[in-house]
Amino acid sequence: MNKVFPEFIHLQGKNSSLMLAFGQGAPQVIYWGKSLSKSTTPQMLTTLRIRQEVPASPAREAKRSLTTTTGEGFTGNPGIKLFGDDAQWAVATVVNDINQLSPHHVVITNWDEARKIALVHTIILDHQADVFSVDTQVTNKGTSPVNLEWCTAATLPVPASADQILGFEGHWAGEFHEQHVKQFFGSYLRENRRGRTSHDAFPGLIMHTKTCDQQQGEAYGFHLGWSGNHRLLSEKMADGRAFVQMGELLYPGEMSLTTNQSYQSPKLYASYTNQGLSGLSRQFHQYVRRNLLKYSALAKPRPVHYNTWEGIYFDHDVATLKDLANRACELGVERFVLDDGWFIGRNDDKAGLGDWYVDEGIYPDGLTPVIDHVNQLGMEFGLWFEPEMVNPDSNLYRAHPDWILSTPPNQDVGFRNQLVLDLTRDEVFDYLFERLDSLLSEYNIAYIKWDMNRDINQPGDQHFKPAVHRQTRALYRLLAKVKASHPNVEIESCSSGGARADYGVLEHTDRVWTSDSNDALERLKIQKGFSYFFPAELMGSHVGPRDCHITHRNLSMSMRASVVLFGHMGMEMDLRELTDDEKVELKAMVDLYKQHRALIHSGDLYRLSLPDYAMGVGMIAPDKSEALFSYSLIRSHTAGLPDQFKFEGLAPETLYKLHIIWPIRAGDFWPKSSIFNFDTNLPEMDGQVFSGEALMNLGKQLPRLAPNSALIYHLVAVE
Ligand code: GLA
Repeated sequence: MNKVFPEFIHLQGKNSSLMLAFGQGAPQVIYWGKSLSKSTTPQMLTTLRIRQEVPASPAREAKRSLTTTTGEGFTGNPGIKLFGDDAQWAVATVVNDINQLSPHHVVITNWDEARKIALVHTIILDHQADVFSVDTQVTNKGTSPVNLEWCTAATLPVPASADQILGFEGHWAGEFHEQHVKQFFGSYLRENRRGRTSHDAFPGLIMHTKTCDQQQGEAYGFHLGWSGNHRLLSEKMADGRAFVQMGELLYPGEMSLTTNQSYQSPKLYASYTNQGLSGLSRQFHQYVRRNLLKYSALAKPRPVHYNTWEGIYFDHDVATLKDLANRACELGVERFVLDDGWFIGRNDDKAGLGDWYVDEGIYPDGLTPVIDHVNQLGMEFGLWFEPEMVNPDSNLYRAHPDWILSTPPNQDVGFRNQLVLDLTRDEVFDYLFERLDSLLSEYNIAYIKWDMNRDINQPGDQHFKPAVHRQTRALYRLLAKVKASHPNVEIESCSSGGARADYGVLEHTDRVWTSDSNDALERLKIQKGFSYFFPAELMGSHVGPRDCHITHRNLSMSMRASVVLFGHMGMEMDLRELTDDEKVELKAMVDLYKQHRALIHSGDLYRLSLPDYAMGVGMIAPDKSEALFSYSLIRSHTAGLPDQFKFEGLAPETLYKLHIIWPIRAGDFWPKSSIFNFDTNLPEMDGQVFSGEALMNLGKQLPRLAPNSALIYHLVAVE
């Protein structure tokens, strides 16, 4: 008996609609955009989509199905590429089961009887956030093995009007830079073979209309939750149809499926908005908060960090660390993170990785004296690890030179003096778990900074097979096992800064180290890019040294501290070098962060559209009762005064009391700040009441500011 399926399924988000159609053949999205009411029938959509046959073209256009196939005659990029002895290359499945588990959760099973291939698509919509996840599973039900080259998580249509591509590029200490490209015929393609999410090809993409800006307009956002290799594709076909595909990039022969074996694609997260690019980000933030974070900002405030890296690098000794801990405590720090350099042989970056035993030369009584000291000061203790790596100069490597990924006879390309351990080997996995577990059991460690400081350039396992897929899954398993055994330990995902930031790793981690650059001006760009897909509480953001160690730029404490408020605050410098004035300002920012973190870590983000010389951002409480706005001058303003600055996202008729909370006022004077004539400029506005609409429609004239300075406003609704 033939099964009866619905012809259409409408997944209804708060402000969006996704209409799936299951006619003949494979399933497809026939509408994705602004929410549709009951007056619209799926048949209307089908009729409105009818396309004419054009000369020198197929009589019946092949579908842009969830998995586009050559068997169906699709000549754009196939959604699946595979081959085997039984003509699997031409796979073309038809729907053979639909399981709607809830109004927002659909599982679609597809089957190719001739080639014995099953495809299962799972779509889960978070109605509230208006973000859905979609993935695809391929199973080989035939008798001969199948080689899988590519399986997109889904093929999602993009309307012709959304012809602007916002992608991301970057490099070490310069992650998440926006890349604006106009859509063209052909493919915008980003391929990542670095074996980690990467600095340069963040797996996120936004397609939007020309008139869309931060505050209004239509945009479609896409993010692949995966920390290995990936391929992102935004294609426009000659027939005018466009689509986005995202999936794992597999090496030749990497994924061979024997009978009944399956491959599961990573999840693609997608969202539509007509509320502009900031609106799109708010949807992704809400999704992350509701689905990926383990605890809410209110349940557990994110503690202020002190990280030792840019303070002392590899120069560890117990007395210095205790001294730094005292100083950190005086500044209001709540978590002390001991970075690289604590384990045996680790005097520089040439040796020691893999030997996860405390160096008794430096720590004769283990880490206990430092941890006890930190705890007695009321701070938590965190520790740095880089589990996936080994230095050739280590006891681990000397004992097990074969435990690495490599492609013999090729020589390793060389990368920070380290090699990648093969986590797909049980003995390697077990060794790493035992080391982490034993240290976490022995010491009172609340937090791990989990680093990964090289690409996987030559990812061959012991059988010479490509292993990035299995390595990535093994990493997730290791993280999950550590979490399961030590559920209260928080984990930060770091990879030479922000090279491992994605929703895949976030299923197992709690914070992202956004970038190794603590330069406030660089940070403004990096943090803006990061904010497209990640909420503020995930964004590790530290006040760095006076002279930035990476860019050598010298910035005031006032400027350096201003950029960390809208993230998860920390500091990372030699605290012994701070002047008294700097200490006052840094402590003031710690206090502000503590006072406002509940708002920042649960609020709605508005990126402001400002002239080139400035950058700004607002964070508004969901009930609009409170807001913070920051305005950073990155160059001199072009006119005698900066422009009138408009606020966003407030309730129009609500009255707000405005306070200038940065730069600080110490006692009754403004300390060395970069605001000219602050006595006449600022106090007259400070503490005044304005309506939301006046602040949004007219805005506020800014005072004259020196370049590289910042102002932060706090607005509170008054009765
Ligand atoms: C990476 C990290 C840094 C620091 C060093 C330690 O570069 O991104 O923050 O932990 O490693 O070696």
